[in-house]
Amino acid sequence: MSLLLLKESEMMSARETVDKLRLRRETSEAEETAAALLHRPRRLRRLDSMRRLVRETRLSAGDLIHPLFVVHGQGIREEIDSMPGTHHWSLDLLPAEAEEVARLGIPGVILFGIPAVKDAIGSENFDDHGIVQEAIRTIKKAVPDLVVITDVCMCQYTDHGHCGIVEDGRVLNDETLEVLARVAVSHAAAGADVVAPSGMMDGQVAAIRSALDAAGFPQVAILSYAAKYASAFYGPFREAAESAPQFGDRQGYQMDPANAREALREVALDIDEGADMVMVKPALAYLDVIRQVREAFDHPLAAFSVSGEYAMVKAAAQRGWIDERRVTLELLTAIKRAGADTILTYFAKDAARWLSE
Ligand code: PBG
Ligand code: ZN
Repeated sequence: MSLLLLKESEMMSARETVDKLRLRRETSEAEETAAALLHRPRRLRRLDSMRRLVRETRLSAGDLIHPLFVVHGQGIREEIDSMPGTHHWSLDLLPAEAEEVARLGIPGVILFGIPAVKDAIGSENFDDHGIVQEAIRTIKKAVPDLVVITDVCMCQYTDHGHCGIVEDGRVLNDETLEVLARVAVSHAAAGADVVAPSGMMDGQVAAIRSALDAAGFPQVAILSYAAKYASAFYGPFREAAESAPQFGDRQGYQMDPANAREALREVALDIDEGADMVMVKPALAYLDVIRQVREAFDHPLAAFSVSGEYAMVKAAAQRGWIDERRVTLELLTAIKRAGADTILTYFAKDAARWLSE
């Protein structure tokens, strides 16, 4: 019966009936929905302790490696402009810094040196009393148990700023290997635990492994920067290490950011050449590469969260645009979740502190 045909009084009661029916229908729908929802993922998110119980990825100070820039001089603890909270250190102040790193539960440091002079072949790089060699001795004496890793590359030490020997504007591969081998041996002789070739020269791991073994350092490990991309995220580091190339760029040896299959090939080659650990660098824009390397290989995998990643977080946090602590821990967790075992990060000390609170 159409409502239009009803009288005024009948109209009221009819409307009430309709309302009641509608109400009943809504209630029973809600009940049905509740019954149908067998799966309620929110149950496990209700309490902080519950969330901890089901957490899949755990970040801890033991996952982190702290980068250290070492310079000649005395009493130097100079902050790097584009990397607030990161400093240049002279040797006399290194023991205290190394002790603090160890106290925070961080197992290792990676050293980058700024030499007194630069030349065509980067002579200070393999000088037994170069800045890095002295820094290794200083740290191993102060905190013997702290793992000392050294970056093995030429760019900080050469006047042209490239990662190899340059001839007619070209970066020579095989000639560079001899220099890198010499650098690695001098780091080992000074007491380095791990050498980390970062120049992306073909065959660098094999050249370094055989030189270390021949020189009586079979116990020194190699962490290879296996998949290192030609990235714009290295900008602040190049300022810190004064290592920007004076002509051209690094695309002739570092990887094209568009390639992931090639990263698997690079990692396979380095493992074949004797790398003990492999690295993907940068981290944040390459989480898919980290994941793929993790799935294809069983070697320990490191990821380098580089200077530009750090600088972006710092810059936004300084403006109050993001919460530095939460963003940092979220990013580091993401890098581990992607599959990294170890993270090289300029946030290592802060993160270790936050994680212990
Ligand atoms: C040297 C080297 C670089 C970084 C680590 N080792 C710079 C580069 O390749 O230009 C970058 C680290 C960072 O940006 O934090 N080859
Ligand atoms: Zn380099």
